Amino acid sequence: MDWVEKEKRLIPQVYRRQSVVFERGEGCYLFDINGKKYLDLVAGIATVAIGHSHPEFIAKVSEQLRKLVHASNLYYTTPQIELAEKLEKITGMDRFFFCNSGTEAVEASLKFARKASGRKKFVAFTNCFHGRTMGSLSVTYKEKFRKPFEPLVQPVEFAKFNDVEDLEKKVDKETSAVILELIQGEAGVFPADKEFVKTIFELKEKYGFLVIIDEVQTGFGRTGRWFAKEHYGVEPDIMAMAKAMGSGFPIGCSAISEEIAEKLEIGDHGSTFGGNPLACSASLATIEIIEKYKLVENAERMSDYFMKRLRELFSEVRGKGLMIGVRVANAGEIVRKALDEGLLLNATSEDNLRIIPPLTIGKEEIDLSVEILSKISN
Ligand SMILES: Cc1ncc(COP(=O)(O)O)c(C=O)c1O
Repeated sequence: MDWVEKEKRLIPQVYRRQSVVFERGEGCYLFDINGKKYLDLVAGIATVAIGHSHPEFIAKVSEQLRKLVHASNLYYTTPQIELAEKLEKITGMDRFFFCNSGTEAVEASLKFARKASGRKKFVAFTNCFHGRTMGSLSVTYKEKFRKPFEPLVQPVEFAKFNDVEDLEKKVDKETSAVILELIQGEAGVFPADKEFVKTIFELKEKYGFLVIIDEVQTGFGRTGRWFAKEHYGVEPDIMAMAKAMGSGFPIGCSAISEEIAEKLEIGDHGSTFGGNPLACSASLATIEIIEKYKLVENAERMSDYFMKRLRELFSEVRGKGLMIGVRVANAGEIVRKALDEGLLLNATSEDNLRIIPPLTIGKEEIDLSVEILSKISN
């Protein structure tokens, strides 16, 4: 395939790609350059929340494209302020710093935590993933990702996920912030225990550290709530968001409390593209479509149906909303066979599949997925 050869010559080989070249998308489906149709249970890794090429998304972003793409944060632009107003309503947070990706949202969050707390140490958890730039990589667990790039930001300690005793040993008065995913996504969809999360907030009271919740993967309806924090009834000091925020258009955000915002000064952080009018219009369109078509509710409803159907085939099915992990014996082989059958799946390890479709998915697509999975896993 010509495209694959060219890619190998021109692009650094840091991605493990499936052998398919996509050209266009529509709803829950992608089409390759030969016109073959694929049911998409990956959604750009939990990103394309409203489905591909949503007509109302295209209309709103096109309108902004014609008006103004970029002006810079040297000036005020209305979509950025409108988006902040919308986020205030759906997140319950106070101030919104805009950037362009998940790793940048975490990067900003770590800087804000240090500045506001006046402390240095971060505590993260085993198997967590927060991104690949130097700061967010420092709080990402996998040694294979971190080791070649050391020295990274220090001090960082990793406590065992869902282990209260270990957490109590790792946090102290030196801790600037504890950073966590409420449902670990890259690890394969593993939720935090309610009791564990409650303890983090109790220890926060005791030691005065900040809590950063990384909602990059769980945010914007993915788990059947606007944000996963609603399942736990907790309010972080800082919340990182990206992925589904623009349903595929690059945008991220570090949302912070008023107290933290008050500690920030001009020049503490910044981004040329962050919060530009086009990206903000994409996010506004995404949020409006999620609201209008009740996609948060759909994620919860379809979750029950999807998990029930998956349990007909697999013994371990876990997760929340449309963020589903399935234990399998041979994930790589299932992903390859599924691709041949026109079904896109993601393996987080050789024994785990992650199912993260557009939030628009319906019973018909779920039945088709289960039918294909049943055929290839026998
Ligand atoms: C929880 C979490 N945080 C941060 C990131 C990094 O996001 P990005 O790839 O947009 O930099 C990811 C990406 O998978 C993620 O799942």
